[in-house]
Amino acid sequence: MQNQNAAAGFGVLAKYGSDKMAKDQPPVSKSSVKPISRRTLLQSASAAAVAGMIGGRSFAQPKSAARPAAASADKSKTFPDKFLWGCATAGHQVEGNNTSSDLWLIEHLPGSIFKEPSGDACDHYHLYPQDISMLADLGFNTYRFSLEWARIEPEEGSFSNAELEHYRRMLATCREHHLTTLLTYSHFSLPRWFAFKGGWQNPGAPDLYARFCEKATKHLGDLVDYASTFNEPDVPQLLNWISLAGMPGGTNFTEMFRTGLDKVRRQVNSPEFANFFLGDGMKIRDGVIAAHHKGRAAMKSVRSDMPVGFNLAMSDDQPAPEDSHLAEKQADVYGPWLEIAKHEDYLGVQTYSRAVVGKRDLPPPKGAELTQVGWEFYPECVEHVVRYASKQTGVPIIVTENGISTNDDTRRVEYVQRALAGLKRAIDDGVDVRGYVAWSLLDNFEWMSGFDPKFGIVAVDRVTQRRTIKPSGAMLGNIARRNSL
Ligand code: BGC
Repeated sequence: MQNQNAAAGFGVLAKYGSDKMAKDQPPVSKSSVKPISRRTLLQSASAAAVAGMIGGRSFAQPKSAARPAAASADKSKTFPDKFLWGCATAGHQVEGNNTSSDLWLIEHLPGSIFKEPSGDACDHYHLYPQDISMLADLGFNTYRFSLEWARIEPEEGSFSNAELEHYRRMLATCREHHLTTLLTYSHFSLPRWFAFKGGWQNPGAPDLYARFCEKATKHLGDLVDYASTFNEPDVPQLLNWISLAGMPGGTNFTEMFRTGLDKVRRQVNSPEFANFFLGDGMKIRDGVIAAHHKGRAAMKSVRSDMPVGFNLAMSDDQPAPEDSHLAEKQADVYGPWLEIAKHEDYLGVQTYSRAVVGKRDLPPPKGAELTQVGWEFYPECVEHVVRYASKQTGVPIIVTENGISTNDDTRRVEYVQRALAGLKRAIDDGVDVRGYVAWSLLDNFEWMSGFDPKFGIVAVDRVTQRRTIKPSGAMLGNIARRNSL
């Protein structure tokens, strides 16, 4: 699986070259938003007590240029050539004002299941030029982000050329910074009209999705290095199994969402309303599987050489000493998707912690260190999950999300170091892993939990939209630049 599009972008950049890009940059409002220059970036990183960690050279290597390991490099710490080092975001979580989406609607209902509305989020919709340049300056060579279908097709059948151009500018900005692009076509949120028709439960959903995929690929495909049909399509099944520290006994997410769905349907006065989280899990799964196949075919019909896959949510599942239903969980949650992945160009795996599986996932062990969202601090999940996913599918693996929610960045530093040490062990044992993408670039809108959980390697002041690089961001960027631990 090569970056077959490596050279194609430059021709496109001539069309969307720096002059046009400069003109197209949105005016930065008179608020105190400060675009981060290279100098500011270096200053803020050193202010974050990481002086000396950022190398003298602050431009990402062109991805077409292999990075030869320095003669003196310690082989035991060096990652494979052309390894993808990136950060991820998702449209609804960072862009702000995704007003035609199903989630925006739900966020604003009285007594919403969302803690707070997404609002301006990180205003990444306007600030992407500085965010992407910051990512590249930190040392990363890859950016994973998603399209908002609700912007591109705000009403059924009515496609916005202007919004497609917005995403084209984002991709072109990545090219300008020599970043490999991982584009997710669907990351949970949906157009509002699509949810009113029953979301993924609607028998017509796969065709509607495929039409969107075709339009988007025609407009953007030449700038996409890796496409993903779906972010975490296994989540509706996973919800049946997970439990978090502090969850009332017997309660699981599925029950919580069932109650939520009934209420939302009453509030929006639509008995059909359903989306990615809210609805009948099995019907959603069937709809998403069919949509994946049709969406993938639509993408390939436009660009047959574009690598296509999807991103699976996976915990590092370990058997409980008694009454473990581990095999049942794996078959229920991952089974169909791992089977499909065998025929994909790559598989993205997304992991944050482990789960000890009894009848369902058991709560984290007593005394275990927990992250802000109640997950066990368990960075070794990365090593275990890539080994499992690779063995099950035989296709190249990219870690497309991994990270930790914490206010204490020193814990993130340790988490990332241990996660990468484990990843390196797996690679040294021959597991075909092509990249590591951190979740997340920015502190962002964590769905129903609102803005409290901090997953970012960069902090965001939600009033000024000022970005501050955390020590973990500088550290991970340096690893990326060196391609070595
Ligand atoms: C999702 C992200 C989310 C992250 C942390 C993943 O399940 O893809 O959107 O923010 O986990 O919860």
